[in-house]
Amino acid sequence: MNTKDEVLKELEENREKYISGQDLADKLSLSRTAIWKAIKSLKEEGFIIDSQTKKGYRLDANCDKLTEFGVKKDLIPELKDIDIRIYDEIDSTNTEAKRLLYSENIRHFTLLASDYQAAGRGRTGKSFKSYRGTGLYYSIILRPKDNFDFSYFDLITVRSAVSVVKAIKDLTEKDAAIKWVNDIYIDGKKVCGILSELDADFETKTVSSIIIGIGINLKYPDHLDDDLKNIFGALDTNILKNQILAKLVNEFYLNYYKAPTDEILKYYKDHSLVLGKKVTYEINGEKREGLALDVNDKGNLIVERNGEKEILSSGEVSIKGDFLNKN
Ligand code: BTN
Repeated sequence: MNTKDEVLKELEENREKYISGQDLADKLSLSRTAIWKAIKSLKEEGFIIDSQTKKGYRLDANCDKLTEFGVKKDLIPELKDIDIRIYDEIDSTNTEAKRLLYSENIRHFTLLASDYQAAGRGRTGKSFKSYRGTGLYYSIILRPKDNFDFSYFDLITVRSAVSVVKAIKDLTEKDAAIKWVNDIYIDGKKVCGILSELDADFETKTVSSIIIGIGINLKYPDHLDDDLKNIFGALDTNILKNQILAKLVNEFYLNYYKAPTDEILKYYKDHSLVLGKKVTYEINGEKREGLALDVNDKGNLIVERNGEKEILSSGEVSIKGDFLNKN
């Protein structure tokens, strides 16, 4: 770890307290000049650091920059050793995840995060808009030790959506709801989207890596694009990004690995925006309408259409409808 990162780690881990230059120097076995230089370059990078002559240095309470150590501080013990990579700016954390998977031996449960994506990707080939500094965009790379059969991952997006809704509730007290399969809404506006991608071998029908990409709007930007004006929502919170990300990642771990499937499905259905509502969807170019009845244990949406049940799989269709009104 370089000197600047070592100093940043100390500041993050002691966020509320001042640490003197001398204490930092002693703890890190560095000279006071080296500490001073590290602080100066952190400030140049945009970290807000309070300095007081007799007390020393501390990260300002309003310093809301994503950092590896700031996230790690709030992770549950099971995740303390994960690889975390923070980007000031990236095209897309999912795209970066793919690049890394092809270029290095990336560790299981690696977390990539940024608060700006220049080319964020959404489901069904759409783009996912990011406004600088107002959102959180991250990907978790899973590399199971053994290659698993596809069916093992059926509920991946369902579990991811549940983890986001739970994290939002714990952090902000707000009740979020899920539009099948994995869009998260608050008060009728979309606050989060999830894009899960698998690296698979179709011959053996096994999965070698999974990328779960999550984009969440934290604040409203000064200017919204016209096409987003009616749909864009945000958590509208002042909680620090590091804390929000740690909570989201903790919940992902707990709901992906620990929570029983029946509990996950119950939570998912209890927070569904679509069950009991009319939905429209397109299959093979044909527009169809039906009543959303249930979500099965593979995460498929079961729709009643012309008296028959139709099973919709998330990869194939996306649904539309006036979910906020009773119909
Ligand atoms: C959707 O709403 O269609 C899914 C959006 C998924 C966005 C996230 S942001 C982090 C990760 N990187 C991307 O390019 N996309 C996902």
